[in-house]
Amino acid sequence: MKPPAAAAKPDGPHGFHAKILATGSAFPKKRLTNHDLAKIVDTSDEWIFARTGIRTRRVADIKGGDSNSGFALEAARKALKRAKLEPAGLDMILYATVSPDRIIPAVSCILQDKLGLKNIPAVDLSAACSGFVYGLSIADAFVRSGQHKHVLVVGSEVLTSLVDWEDRGTCILFGDAAGVAIVGRAEPGEKSRILSTHLHADGSLKELFWMEAGGSLLRVDEEVIRKRQNFMKMKGKEIYKEAVRTLVDCAIEALESNGLKIGELDWFIPHQANLRIIEAVAKRLDLPMERVITNIEQYGNTSSATVPTALDAAVEDGRIKRGDLVLMDVFGAGLTFGSALIRW
Ligand code: ACO
Repeated sequence: MKPPAAAAKPDGPHGFHAKILATGSAFPKKRLTNHDLAKIVDTSDEWIFARTGIRTRRVADIKGGDSNSGFALEAARKALKRAKLEPAGLDMILYATVSPDRIIPAVSCILQDKLGLKNIPAVDLSAACSGFVYGLSIADAFVRSGQHKHVLVVGSEVLTSLVDWEDRGTCILFGDAAGVAIVGRAEPGEKSRILSTHLHADGSLKELFWMEAGGSLLRVDEEVIRKRQNFMKMKGKEIYKEAVRTLVDCAIEALESNGLKIGELDWFIPHQANLRIIEAVAKRLDLPMERVITNIEQYGNTSSATVPTALDAAVEDGRIKRGDLVLMDVFGAGLTFGSALIRW
C-alpha cells in the first residue's frame, strides 16, 4: 500500500515557518549488553548482532528513581539551554510515548509540573515509534498558524517495563531513552525550516505489534499475568516487511512532494528498529549508508525516542550542519508511519 500522494504543505496564514531550535536527549545509566541478555534467555551476542545490529541498550532503574518523565526532563533542560529559553518560554508540550509513568494522568502533565509550568497545554500522543514525527507535525502546524511560538516535542520511553523478559524474540530489541526538540518560528527569509511532514496509519495491521492487556478491554488479573498478556507481543517477520515498505514509500513521498531527488539529501534518520531494516531501506532508495544516521548499536529500539536521540547526537557532534537537508522516516505499532523533511 503506497501512501496517497500529498503535496508539500502551504505556508502558514501569516507566512510563518517553523524550525527546530534545539534538541536534547537523556539515557539511563544502566547498560545491558547482549552478553548480559544471554544470561537471562537462550540467545547470544552473535545472533542478536547479526539479526538486528544491536550490541547494547540502556535500561531504566525504576526502583533507583529513574522514570520516563525524569529522562524527558533531563533532555528538555538540555534543549532549553541550547535554545537559550527558560521553561516559561514554552507554549505547549506534545509528549509521544507508549510507556508513560502512569496511564492517568498524562505524563505530559507530569513533565509540565517538573518544569515548573502551569496552564500551557500538555498532551500525550500514542503513535508508538512514529510518535515523535507525529508530534513534530502538530508542533509545526501550531507554530505556522501563529498560535504558539515554542512547542516542546518529546519522544520518551521506558519500554523495558513492557518487555517480556522470558521472550527472547522481543526482549533483545528494546531500550529506554528520551529525545526532545523545541520547535519555534523561523526568522523571515531563513532557510532552516520544517519543509514538510506526512503522517499515515493503517489500523488493519494493529495485531502485528500489540499489548493485549492493560487497557479498558482486558484488566490485568492473575490469568492475564499467567498468560503473559500484559507484555508487548510482535509478529517479527510481518513487521519487518511492512517496515521496509512503509519507510521506502514515505521517503519517496517526502522527496517527491518537495521536488527533490535522493542525491540531494544530506542525512537520513530512520526509526531504529533493526539495522537490517535500515540497510534494506537505504539499498532500495539507492542511498549510501554513510548518509544514514544510526544509534541502534548502542541503544537498541527506543521507539519514539530513536529519531530525536539520533538527531540530537548528529547535531551535537557536528555531522548535521545548518543548511543540511535531513529526512526523518518512521513506522510504529498501529501501524503508524510518516516522515518529516527539514532544512536544519
Ligand atoms: N536468540 C536466538 N535465537 C532466536 C532469538 C534470539 N534472541 N529469537 C528468535 N530466535 C530463533 C527463533 O526461535 C527461530 O528458531 P527456529 O528456526 O528454531 O524456530 C529462529 O531464531 C528464527 O526466528 P525468527 O523470528 O524467524 O527470526 P528473524 O530472522 O525474523 O529475526 C527479528 C527476528 C530480529 C525480531 C526480526 O523478525 C525483526 O527484526 N523484525 C522486525 C521487528 C521490529 O521491527 N520490531 C520493532 C517493533 S515495532 C516498532 O518498532 C514499532
